[in-house]
Amino acid sequence: MRTEPRIPFESKVIFGYQNQAVSGSITNLSLKGIFINSHSCPPKNSFVEIALAVPFLSEPPNVMAKVKRTDHGGFAADFFGMNHEVASSIWSFVCARLTSLSNCPYCGMPIEDKQLSHCPHCTYLLSFDEPGYFEKRDTAITRKSLMDFIGKLSDPEVHAIARTIRKYLLGRNNEGSDNCDEEMVGTCDKMRTVFHLIRKVAMADVPVLIIGETGTGKEMAARAIHERSLRQNGPFIPINCGAIPKDLLESELFGHEKGAFTGAERQVRGRIEYAAGGTLFLDEVGELPPLLQVKILRFLEDYRVERVGGRESIEVDLRIIAATNRDLEKDIAEGRFREDLFYRLNVVTIHMPDLRERGEDIVIMAEMFLRKYAQKAGKNIGGFTREALTALKTHHWPGNVRELVNRIRRAAVMAEQRWITPDNLELKIGQNQGEGLKEACKRFEHILIKETMGRHEGKISQTAKALKISRSEMYYLLKKHGIERAERITKGPTPV
Ligand SMILES: Nc1ncnc2c1ncn2[C@@H]1O[C@H](COP(=O)(O)OP(=O)(O)OP(=O)(O)O)[C@@H](O)[C@H]1O
Ligand SMILES: [Mg+2]
Repeated sequence: MRTEPRIPFESKVIFGYQNQAVSGSITNLSLKGIFINSHSCPPKNSFVEIALAVPFLSEPPNVMAKVKRTDHGGFAADFFGMNHEVASSIWSFVCARLTSLSNCPYCGMPIEDKQLSHCPHCTYLLSFDEPGYFEKRDTAITRKSLMDFIGKLSDPEVHAIARTIRKYLLGRNNEGSDNCDEEMVGTCDKMRTVFHLIRKVAMADVPVLIIGETGTGKEMAARAIHERSLRQNGPFIPINCGAIPKDLLESELFGHEKGAFTGAERQVRGRIEYAAGGTLFLDEVGELPPLLQVKILRFLEDYRVERVGGRESIEVDLRIIAATNRDLEKDIAEGRFREDLFYRLNVVTIHMPDLRERGEDIVIMAEMFLRKYAQKAGKNIGGFTREALTALKTHHWPGNVRELVNRIRRAAVMAEQRWITPDNLELKIGQNQGEGLKEACKRFEHILIKETMGRHEGKISQTAKALKISRSEMYYLLKKHGIERAERITKGPTPV
C-alpha cells in the first residue's frame, strides 16, 4: 500500500540523466515522487534531474530524484532535496485534486462517499487539507507498519518489546499502576533479607512462594524476581486467582478450544501459554478451587497444558511465582489447600514484612511517596509536621504499603499548606487502632528509644541518661527492639 497519496497527472517533461537531456511524460505525481514514461529509462537507484515545467509552478525548478523502480516503459523516482516553496506548491496542487478522486489514493479501493474523513478500507486519513494532516498521516503509517512488524513476531518477542517500550521509552513498567516505576524501597533488616532472597532466587529458576499481608508488596517482589531472572526478556503474566469468577478461572489459566462450552466461539490461549518464556504470577493462590489445584499440580509435573475442550498437549516453558495473604499451612490442615501443591510452589518462600514492622522505613517511604505525588500535583510541599510523623509511626497500617501510598497521594492533593498534617493523612495521634496494651507499649518504647537516640546522635550513654535508665538496660532494650547500629544514629523527625 502507498504511504504517499498520488494523483494521475499528464504533462510533458525533460529530465537529465548521464549528461543527456531525455524527454518523457509525467503520468503520476505526489509530494514524494513522480512516475515518468520514457523511451529511455534510467536504471534503479540512479539519479535524475527533472525540469518540472508544470503549469502550477511559475518558475520551473530543476528537482533531483532517485529512481526507485522501472516498469511499463517508465520509471518511478523519489524527490530529494526539494526546497520548501516547491514542495508546498506541489502539495497544494496534489491536495486540490485528491479530494475529487473516486478511489482511495493509498489503497486504491473505491470511495463512494466523498465526505468521509478516513478510507473505510485502509482507514487512512482522507481529509488532506485538514490542519495537522501530515502528522496524523505519519502516525497512522507508523502505527500500521509497527502492527505489520509485530504481527510477524512470536508472543515472547512481542511481550519483550512491549516491556522495553513501557519501561525505557515511556517510563512506565505496568499500565494501570502508577507505582511500578518505583524501585522497591526498604532499609530495615527484614527488607534487607527480602532483597537478599530476591537476588538469590532470581537466577535459580525455581518456583517461589511470596507470603505477606495485603499491600505488603508481594507483586512488586514477584516482578523484581522476574526482572532479575534469565527470563527478564520474556513476559510477566499475573493472574489473580481470587478476582476471577471460579467458573471462568480454568479457561483463563488453561485456555479453551472453539466450541468447548456455550459461548466459546473461537480458540483462546490461556495465561499459562501467554507466559511462555517468562513468569506466571499466581496471585492469591490460596483462592484456587480444588479442581484447579489438581490441574496446576499436574502442570507443574511436566509443564504441559491442554486447553479446555482440547486434546493437544502443549509444552510451556515458564517459571511460577505464587503469592498469598492466607495462612496456607492452616488451609492445608483444614483441607482447603493441597499439601502436595504447597510443596511444589514453596521451593523458596519469601515473607514480606508488615509495614508496622519496618521501623524507620515507614518515614523513608512516606517522604519518597510525598515527593513523587507533590510533584505530580504541582505543589510545593516541604514535608510532614512533627505530629504527622508521629501519626505515621504509630498508625497500625492494616493496608500496609498500599495504604501508605493512598494516604500520601490523597494528602498531597488535599494539602493547603506547605506541611502535611495528620488531618491531611486522615490519621489521628493516639487513636487505638485495635492493638492490645502490650503491643502498644512495645511500639511506643521502640519509637521513644529511636527518637531519643536520634537526638543524641546514637550515643548510648547520653540516650540512657535522657531516658533515665542504666547503660545495661539500654543495651538490653536495643537488643529487644532489634535496633541496629546504623539505625541508632538516624536523626529524629524532620524539624518543622
Ligand atoms: N517496598 C516498597 N517500596 C515502594 N513501594 C512499594 C513497596 N512495597 C509495596 N509498594 C507499593 O505498594 C502498593 C502495593 O504493592 P503490591 O501490589 O505489590 O502489594 P501486594 O502485597 O501484592 O498487595 P495485595 O495483597 O493487596 O495484592 C503498590 O503501589 C506498590 O508499588
Ligand atoms: Mg497483589
